Amino acid sequence: MKKLFAAAALAAALWSHPAGAAGEAPTPPAVDWSFNGLFGTFDRAQLQRGYQVYAEVCHSCHALKFMAFRNLQQIGFTPEQIAQLAGQFEVQDGPNDEGDMFMRPAKAADHMPSPFANEKAARFANNGAYPPDQSLIVEARKGGSDYIHALMIGYRDPPPEGVQLGDGMYFNEYFPGHQIAMAPPLSDGRVDYTDGTEATLDQQAKDVTAFLTWVAEPNLEQRKRMGVTVMLFLIVLTGMLYALKRHIWSDVKH
Ligand code: HEC
Repeated sequence: MKKLFAAAALAAALWSHPAGAAGEAPTPPAVDWSFNGLFGTFDRAQLQRGYQVYAEVCHSCHALKFMAFRNLQQIGFTPEQIAQLAGQFEVQDGPNDEGDMFMRPAKAADHMPSPFANEKAARFANNGAYPPDQSLIVEARKGGSDYIHALMIGYRDPPPEGVQLGDGMYFNEYFPGHQIAMAPPLSDGRVDYTDGTEATLDQQAKDVTAFLTWVAEPNLEQRKRMGVTVMLFLIVLTGMLYALKRHIWSDVKH
């Protein structure tokens, strides 16, 4: 009997504290991405702006190790532009004739170099927290692109009343648990867009998220086109089979 009461009490406690009240994050606002839907495509100009935000802001903490500079050709950069963009980073090469490793400017074939030598160095520079590699971050988080965008615009300073922030922590509405060790990376005018687009916080958040979506799923457009082709094929096939069936059964007298 006691057990039954305990179970009832537990059920009542859970009922009065639904998951949402325990500091869980709200659903991120749905963004009208150009790559949404069956016919969605990436907006090349947006991806190029997103690269600029990543390279100028996020890269000081987050690696993007699966991306080679030459891949940027897919989003509309010319080989000359890519050589110039890669040349702004240094990568380790070697050993040289004397057996030493050395640094040289990156080339198109190189992958984006990591900002830290290893995870320990990254944690040491970030108050113990680890800035995850961003190559697959859009796929790795519930909510995908909507979540990454929301995270960028979800900081509140000061935090809501009654919230005690830990040392070096920031309040973010959309981060699970709300306390994040990443300082707000973006604000109005954080970058100066080369294409003249106004760099509002929201614009930069959308652009960098679109870019990271492309990095995580560069074949998204082909995948969608293939889906549409398969559906068209099935519709035509259905029509042909139906016509065939009518033809075969047309002689049967009722
Ligand atoms: C000064 C360093 C720094 C910069 C610059 C920075 N981040 Fe972070 N970021 C971090 C750290 C540290 C974490 C881990 C936070 C934690 O776990 O509390 C993190 C975590 C994240 C996460 C994962 C959140 C999650 O759900 O786990 C995303 C996404 C992210 N950053 C995106 C970005 C983007 C996009 C930019 C550029 C606009 C950026 N960051 C710039 C330090 C940084």
